[in-house]
Amino acid sequence: MDFKIAVLGGDGIGPEVTAEGVKILEAVGRVFGHGFSLETGDVGGISIDKHGTPLLPEVAELAGSADAVLFGAVGGPRWDDPAAPMHPEDGLLQLRAHLGVFANIRPVKVYPMLIESSVLKPEVLEGVDMVVVRELTGGLYYAQPKGRSETPQGWTAVDTMRYSEGEIERVLRVGFELARGRRKKLTSVDKANVLECSRLWRQTATRLGGEYPDVELEHVLVDACAMQLIQRPSRFDVIVSENTFGDILTDEAAVLAASMGLLPSASLSDVPVAGRRTTGFYEPIHGTAPDIAGQGIANPTGSILSVALMLRYSLGLTEEAVSIERAVEQVLDAGARTPDIFAEGAQQVSTAEMGDRVVSALE
Ligand code: IPM
Ligand code: MN
Repeated sequence: MDFKIAVLGGDGIGPEVTAEGVKILEAVGRVFGHGFSLETGDVGGISIDKHGTPLLPEVAELAGSADAVLFGAVGGPRWDDPAAPMHPEDGLLQLRAHLGVFANIRPVKVYPMLIESSVLKPEVLEGVDMVVVRELTGGLYYAQPKGRSETPQGWTAVDTMRYSEGEIERVLRVGFELARGRRKKLTSVDKANVLECSRLWRQTATRLGGEYPDVELEHVLVDACAMQLIQRPSRFDVIVSENTFGDILTDEAAVLAASMGLLPSASLSDVPVAGRRTTGFYEPIHGTAPDIAGQGIANPTGSILSVALMLRYSLGLTEEAVSIERAVEQVLDAGARTPDIFAEGAQQVSTAEMGDRVVSALE
């Protein structure tokens, strides 16, 4: 089969790790006989520097016309001035909105061979295998009014949290469907003791739960969820939350996996159903890591596993997806480690070597 993939590396370590994701995609093409035509574009800080905007309309069009998008990361100290008229992150947010990818799926799994590399105790990490579904195109990130104004008392700023029942229902449905294919437990995260949006969220979750009697639904307040993620992470199967809560909780959940560099994500514009393809945007959950950019030491596993999610959710290539996931496990099992997950007795490898080893394992 032939697929068109948009490749947007972005800033910092984004292009380095994305190059390894692409390497794996090309290896899958060779091994399984698929054609991937790759089209690249600028986004984020590099696009601000080259084109004066974080996202050109033609790059948004390229992403929209592709079968899937492989994205790196955007941002960096060069463009961090809070008073600047535009920021690299705007490019990412515009892309997510343009593609309508409302459900951001972030699987968090602890690999047994990496348990020792985590800052948490091994007994806490045993059996951790969860998926966080983060609402991605609403809430504080997007709702209006948003902005700043000058008042006689000084500057004031506003962001708005707003959710419609429809926006809440569709992302919760993604969570329920995923839970059905897993351990059948759904944790709906909210702040219903304070926020109106969360009260609507909780009511919607309870109503939708009626359609999924086989899935056990629980409601957990976001602050308690943050605590339980560290105290007893193995209790979670599927977690669903609004945009900002999900952003924060998934960085926290990444600590469980030993390194943020390991975690992939899939952002979908539809409820995933086996055998049906859906527009998807695939990115590692780590950021641009400007402190290590350009040194060839970043962990490309998040990007590589994002390619696996792409094959599974957007291209309908399940067997190929599984083969990437197996190859990654094999390479980690054999002791290859980028510096972020390095431990005594392992072999330290570069970003490119890590990619090459996954390719060899795949072949
Ligand atoms: C993420 C990132 C982005 C977000 C930033 C770069 C805008 O932190 O994907 O988690 O907040 O969504
Ligand atoms: Mn984040």
